[in-house]
Amino acid sequence: MQNDQPQTIQRADYQPLSWTVDTVDLHFALDAGATVVTNRMRCVRNPDAAPGPIRLWGEAMERLELTVDGAQPVALRETGALLEIDAAGESVMVEVRTRVDPRANTTLSGLYLSSGGFFTQCEAEGFRRITWFPDRPDVMARYTVTLEADREACPVLLSNGNLVGQGELPNGRHYAKWEDPFPKPSYLFALVAARLVALERKVRTLSGREVLLQVWVEEGNLDRCEHAMEALVNSMRWDEETFGLELDLDRFMIVAVADFNMGAMENKGLNIFNTKFVLAKPDTATDVDYENVESVVAHEYFHNWTGNRVTCRDWFQLTLKEGLTVFRDQQFSADMLARAAGPEGAASARAVKRIDDVRVLRAAQFPEDGGPMAHPIRPDSYQEINNFYTATVYEKGAEVIRMLHTLLGQEGFRNGMDLYFSYFDGQAVTCDDFVEVMSEANNGFDLDQFMRWYSQAGTPRVKASGTWNAADGCYALTLSQHTPATPGQPDKLPLVIPVAVGLIGPDGRDLPLRLEGETQAGATTRVLKLTEEAQVFRFIGLAAEPVPSLLRGFSAPVILELDEDDARLAFRMAHDADPFNRWDAAQRYAERVVLAMAGGASAGLPQAFVNAFRALLADTRLDPAFRAQALALPAEPYLLERMSPADPGALRTALIAVMGALGRELAGDWLRVVDGMQVSGPYRYHPGDAGKRALVNLALRYLCAGGQPSGLALAEARFAAATNMTERFGALAALVQSSSPARGAALLAFHARYRNDALVLDKWFALQAGAWRWEEGGEPALDRVRVLLSDPAFSLANPNKVYALLGTYFRANPGEFHLADGSGYAFWADQVIALDARNPQVAARMARALENWRHYAPALQARIRPQLERVLASPGLSPDVAEIVGKALQ
Ligand code: PHE
Ligand code: ZN
Repeated sequence: MQNDQPQTIQRADYQPLSWTVDTVDLHFALDAGATVVTNRMRCVRNPDAAPGPIRLWGEAMERLELTVDGAQPVALRETGALLEIDAAGESVMVEVRTRVDPRANTTLSGLYLSSGGFFTQCEAEGFRRITWFPDRPDVMARYTVTLEADREACPVLLSNGNLVGQGELPNGRHYAKWEDPFPKPSYLFALVAARLVALERKVRTLSGREVLLQVWVEEGNLDRCEHAMEALVNSMRWDEETFGLELDLDRFMIVAVADFNMGAMENKGLNIFNTKFVLAKPDTATDVDYENVESVVAHEYFHNWTGNRVTCRDWFQLTLKEGLTVFRDQQFSADMLARAAGPEGAASARAVKRIDDVRVLRAAQFPEDGGPMAHPIRPDSYQEINNFYTATVYEKGAEVIRMLHTLLGQEGFRNGMDLYFSYFDGQAVTCDDFVEVMSEANNGFDLDQFMRWYSQAGTPRVKASGTWNAADGCYALTLSQHTPATPGQPDKLPLVIPVAVGLIGPDGRDLPLRLEGETQAGATTRVLKLTEEAQVFRFIGLAAEPVPSLLRGFSAPVILELDEDDARLAFRMAHDADPFNRWDAAQRYAERVVLAMAGGASAGLPQAFVNAFRALLADTRLDPAFRAQALALPAEPYLLERMSPADPGALRTALIAVMGALGRELAGDWLRVVDGMQVSGPYRYHPGDAGKRALVNLALRYLCAGGQPSGLALAEARFAAATNMTERFGALAALVQSSSPARGAALLAFHARYRNDALVLDKWFALQAGAWRWEEGGEPALDRVRVLLSDPAFSLANPNKVYALLGTYFRANPGEFHLADGSGYAFWADQVIALDARNPQVAARMARALENWRHYAPALQARIRPQLERVLASPGLSPDVAEIVGKALQ
């Protein structure tokens, strides 16, 4: 197809359309093999654009008829997916009838089938697979939708907005008519026609309106909706209280579907969710699942304002809605956790959430920023927009919003948001609009240099060094910044980097901070603004040499380079008043120890490291959730990124040795933790309980890794006696990640119990795909993955299954994927090619597992390159995969 001549779209080429649409009347005669879509749209001339034809996009459908004001168009040109129609006057009625085949649609974009029901997915460019349309986010129209389907197969007919009519039709069919009062871009259109049931709740909004909330699922899942409903109600409250934003519809629906490419979708009034982020009950969902459901429900709900009421002018602006909405959902989750933890535990609960978010950023976004797909949060070009729903646009985008929040303060940020909605409600705008309004609402706060965060790719390095002058009690902190070159961006300019700083005294307590020129000391943490290539900050009035604690709370998405010896890391692990940095000190120490071992240092663990770990573990004043975070090793993909060249085999050997040694040397402490952490009463999703369960599960992991017979027995017992999924799965994972002979039986028992539960089976697939080899002659994960590929419960057609089995193997099990003989890579190429034929978006995600191949040792590179080339040369390759593999090979 396009693999020779990939089409690149440039941000700079944006032009408004000559014609937009103001009303759309859609009629769907739903049929699995042949759905007829009738679209009557009023096209209106755009006064702000140069004159030109009406432009409509369409693909993967059959055009039955097209008329303009009831007649054949005078001039119509068709080039690929683009249709151009000449029209006169200020407005015309275009009617187009198309036939689509939902059953044949394996891409899960456009109109498709899942367990016999009809679902749509239109972001980013799925609407053009349903009807011809100016399918761009800057075309906002009012929609009326009539759905017609078989009553028996599809008793429930849903679309955006309000239900305005319904009734019976001949031949066992029925219809429903929906009207969405708010103009919206086509990517927010949705319909659902399926056999579903709903959990309902009525609530009152801030202004006293009663609204109907529904969570629609398959009948057997009705007992798993309560948590999602609770999350929705909490999200509504939070957005009212925090931003004064209220639900604008009389009805808000969430629908769960088992076949879905992404997590969820914020269609206006009709959010469609991957079942994974809706369904939860204690027997099938872990604490982490509960947490994810809550944050994804919130994320999609928050889009109603940040995304839907104010949307993106073009897809380059994606972070305008995504970065902002991720930031909002992160704040929401932190507030919910803090509230549940109570005043005593609130700070720690917030830190634990921050740690979670930074872990994701480091494991997923940092490698992206260091590879061939590196792009600014607002990219300048793309070949396939679906490839740009990235950790950079989402997670780094959220970090950029967080820095704005830090610089402007809570109130200044809120004022900016208020002004944003007052200016832009109902419009499609740009990131510049957002940042300008933030400045305007804050007395013209200068954000010109800050805008570079939107245009420069790559993770900045901030180097810090301090000099102590005992004679005048001055500590001079030099901070310098450098952003490495990325594809297409050889040189970078200095950014505005907020660096939150504390100074720790010899007794471990924070010192009041006083900068040169200030009359008195103030707070113990303050935010320095690094704007130049290098700056010196002089702290005065100090009695003894301090230990700096930098980038507290991870105040900017950068890599901090600071020379700290082991003793200093251990000191900060024990004393840093900032819990995030306390965790980070432990991560840095662990990284150092693991990478030294992977690089061939002696096999034993440094005693000082073991002692520092033990001290954290035994510090019962620390909240268990925090201890679980602090004692978990850094993520393997992050460690690989920090190695050069990356040697997955050596890293794995080192991780096995470190896990095992920590399990053995701290065995008594781990066992005490398990004993002392009993959670009583029936399962409830509560951060306090979840923290205890997380720490116990971590203890089991270490004990089993260390091959401790008492630990293995404990894991087996807990697996058998567990009363909820968090405990059951935690014990199972500990057994599987060990050389325990009980592994196989436990996996079988788990399978037997959950053989009919798709979401739990995903866990079962993922666990095996991610298994390490704990003993010589152990089964390679690749062999197991091959066997599981033909398991009756596995299907390449279901994205969750693909992510669980193949995604876990390719991305989360580097030690088993990067096999010296290259067999993992050949398998990868086979799977990417097979997947691409049915679902390019999912295939492209899998393809990304090898994009950073140039970081690996030469022997591995030599094995990877031919496989990348084989994929690129594969006939009929999608533009999605072609972009990923093409850029990797460049
Ligand atoms: N916009 C969705 C979200 O962030 C993600 C998504 C993108 C879903 C594209 C489907 C397709 O919540
Ligand atoms: Zn989103």
